[in-house]
Amino acid sequence: MPTKPLIDQTEWQALKDHRSAMDSVHMRDLFDQDPDRFQRYFVEAAGLSLDYSKNRITQETLGHLMALARARHLPEQIEALFKGEHVNNTEDRPALHTALRNLGDGPVEVDGTDIMPEVRQTLKRMEEFVWRVRSTQWRGFSNKPFTDVVSIGIGGSFLGPKLVSAALKPYWHGQLNCHYVANIDGSHITEVLRHINPETTLFLIQSKSFRTQETLENTRIAREWFLHNGGSEDRIAKHFVAVTANEAEAIDFGITRDNIFPMWDWVGGRYSLWSAIGLPTALTIGMENFRGLLAGAHAMDRHFREAPLEENMPVIMALLGIWYGNFWDADAHAVLPYDHYLRGLPAHLMQLDMESNGKCVRRGGEPVHWETGPIIWGGAGANGQHAYHQLLHQGTRLSPADFIMPLHTHNPVGQHHAILFANCLSQAQALMRGKTRDEAHQELLDKGHSEDEATRLAPHKAIPGNKPSNTLLFDRATPHTIGALIALYEHKTFTQGAIWDVDSFDQWGVELGKQLGQTILGRLNADTDDITTDSSTDGLIKLFRKTHDV
Ligand code: F6P
Repeated sequence: MPTKPLIDQTEWQALKDHRSAMDSVHMRDLFDQDPDRFQRYFVEAAGLSLDYSKNRITQETLGHLMALARARHLPEQIEALFKGEHVNNTEDRPALHTALRNLGDGPVEVDGTDIMPEVRQTLKRMEEFVWRVRSTQWRGFSNKPFTDVVSIGIGGSFLGPKLVSAALKPYWHGQLNCHYVANIDGSHITEVLRHINPETTLFLIQSKSFRTQETLENTRIAREWFLHNGGSEDRIAKHFVAVTANEAEAIDFGITRDNIFPMWDWVGGRYSLWSAIGLPTALTIGMENFRGLLAGAHAMDRHFREAPLEENMPVIMALLGIWYGNFWDADAHAVLPYDHYLRGLPAHLMQLDMESNGKCVRRGGEPVHWETGPIIWGGAGANGQHAYHQLLHQGTRLSPADFIMPLHTHNPVGQHHAILFANCLSQAQALMRGKTRDEAHQELLDKGHSEDEATRLAPHKAIPGNKPSNTLLFDRATPHTIGALIALYEHKTFTQGAIWDVDSFDQWGVELGKQLGQTILGRLNADTDDITTDSSTDGLIKLFRKTHDV
């Protein structure tokens, strides 16, 4: 495993030198010089196709990046991940989300114990539960079939399942609606409860720790609502199911033992959608499709583990991110799904990537002296073109982008899909080519503008281009392709963390806010000034109290 600081690697220095040499190279010219550029920088895996030709790279760049990956022992680190070594070193545990979608017969061991029997048994339990609900064997207290599932959870116990449910909406069971509640803002749960019937609603309480304030408070409200609207204590078991690694606290909270599905400490929250945390998804799309999702992820796992680095899709995407983040000062990376059903992808990847690699110390505790994870942002194409793409085209900041799109739509309406596809390609092309000032000037003259007017406007209409992007395509948004797509980003994130030498599986940074929140909550509820902090927080607390008669 890497011990040397990253910037002391000779491969790092070689990349720095190469970066200087690439300074004056424009992608336009690279395309003009090489008619095979598309084929040269194109890779396929697990039903996904990646065109990465629109990047500021040459064969030499890739050679340097691959050399850096090898110098950081990436192949050995990938093996360590799959073999269940304690890659989450600050919490001293493995990160074995790949075991959740391991379709092989072989064992996967955690500290000498094969975890696969438990994984398979949980999938079987899920299968039975999903079948009972969908076939209306399991019904509500008044013997009516369920019409609504409300999943209560936050972070990884929310974003992943929500993304997959939305991405696979065409596969939903016609009679079962799925709602997600995460926010401690009471408006969230109020809005959901307003539209459902307690007799026909199943609540899934999703929390690995069963200690997350937002989830527990929302569950309390859901329970009260249920009890006040025809439910009773002995009816709770028909309507409340939990997924957690903390069975004891779930039971204390009032969930029946038989209604608890397990989670394990070797699954990170943001990597948990493949576990029973995926139950809301499985209920809506059915277990066969849920297994299809796992199969897609498994196909990407095999590719990641087996393909040579040079042909390895997650590795290529990760190294391109390092190229821009560490050598071109890019602070951000945009995720632009050109698919309405995939509009939740940026939110999920924000947690996946930023909670994993938003770190400032190395695995050994030393400070990092290089940039780590970028700011992930994005939104649905083509909507963004009429909003923030302006910055991508003409802004001073560099944000490489991933354009993501299916070749076929589930909803062929008029010319929509071809127009959407044209938009996706034209954005990537415009970012790459840009428009020179001369071209802008000539275009203005051709449109009948005077020479003066053309000279005045040309600088505003010129677009620098040379802005990098990847284009990721797949045939259709199916369980298999969505599984592969999400696993691709998981492995990209892992690869970057491995090279930066950060622990991609802990998230200590979110703890301080939680601790301080408890103290502040106490002060909001009681007129006591015995604890003071800083004048800003004190002043704001007083303002709250004044308006709440505390
Ligand atoms: O606070 C961050 C976090 O721990 C995430 O990592 C996690 O996905 C989320 O909270 C929810 O945690 P839990 O599933 O334990 O409720």
